[in-house]
Amino acid sequence: MAYYDDVKDAADYIRARISTVPDLAIVLGSGLGDFAGTLGDAVSLPYSDLPHWPASNVIGHEGRLVIGTAGGRTIAALAGRCHVYEGHDLKTVTFAVRALGLLGVKVLVLTNAAGGINTRFDQGALMVIDDHINLIGNNPLVGTNDERFGVRFPDMSEVYSRRLRGVADEAAAALGVTVRHGVYAGLLGPSYETPAEIRYLRVIGADAVGMSTVPEAIAARHMGIEVLGISCITNMAAGVLPQSLHHDEVMETARRVRGQFIALLNAVIARA
Ligand code: HPA
Repeated sequence: MAYYDDVKDAADYIRARISTVPDLAIVLGSGLGDFAGTLGDAVSLPYSDLPHWPASNVIGHEGRLVIGTAGGRTIAALAGRCHVYEGHDLKTVTFAVRALGLLGVKVLVLTNAAGGINTRFDQGALMVIDDHINLIGNNPLVGTNDERFGVRFPDMSEVYSRRLRGVADEAAAALGVTVRHGVYAGLLGPSYETPAEIRYLRVIGADAVGMSTVPEAIAARHMGIEVLGISCITNMAAGVLPQSLHHDEVMETARRVRGQFIALLNAVIARA
């Protein structure tokens, strides 16, 4: 099928340009793009150079894949991701994860910015994703199944690996960083939620809400990749506090917590 061939083209292109194949990849959420610049012996591949890769003009100018060392191993870092709210179909949104899977990545760390629904969370908290609720209204596996990626009806009982959640806890403890745990609700966006929607999400068991991660996690599990998800609670969700939501606030919190988030990622990488 053409999609599989396109993904394989991209994976082959990457493989031809690196000396060590990464077995771990990180998708960098809002404000974390800089992390890619901290990798040692790095090979930086702009998305615009990668065959069939979603065009970087829709992702933002910093779209690039960096392969280099961190925590004593070779990893891949994706700075810039595609969102469904930009108008892409889910095959496009999950293209990068598919390509990394074919390249040989076994562990995928998904990071994001999210709104806090759980009132025990504070702005700036880091939350290990224990599970998700897919409210995007679609699924990246819709359509003819390509068995080369995975089975038609993949199990989703443990999307976010218990082992890796434990690794994140150990890493946090070693750093003296507090991490929360919770359920991430993935919505289409791009409008933020209404207070009524946030009350609904709380009732159905969500602790945080965001507009990414869920399609990538599903595609990764379809391929048998082990997944860890970590959210930065950049703001309390709509209606939790008597104030409106602004993207600037999201970016400002992501920037404030970046140092701690990157330290946690490095500690996770060294142990995962
Ligand atoms: N809602 C949805 N997505 C988000 C939020 C939010 O409050 N904050 C950061 N990403």
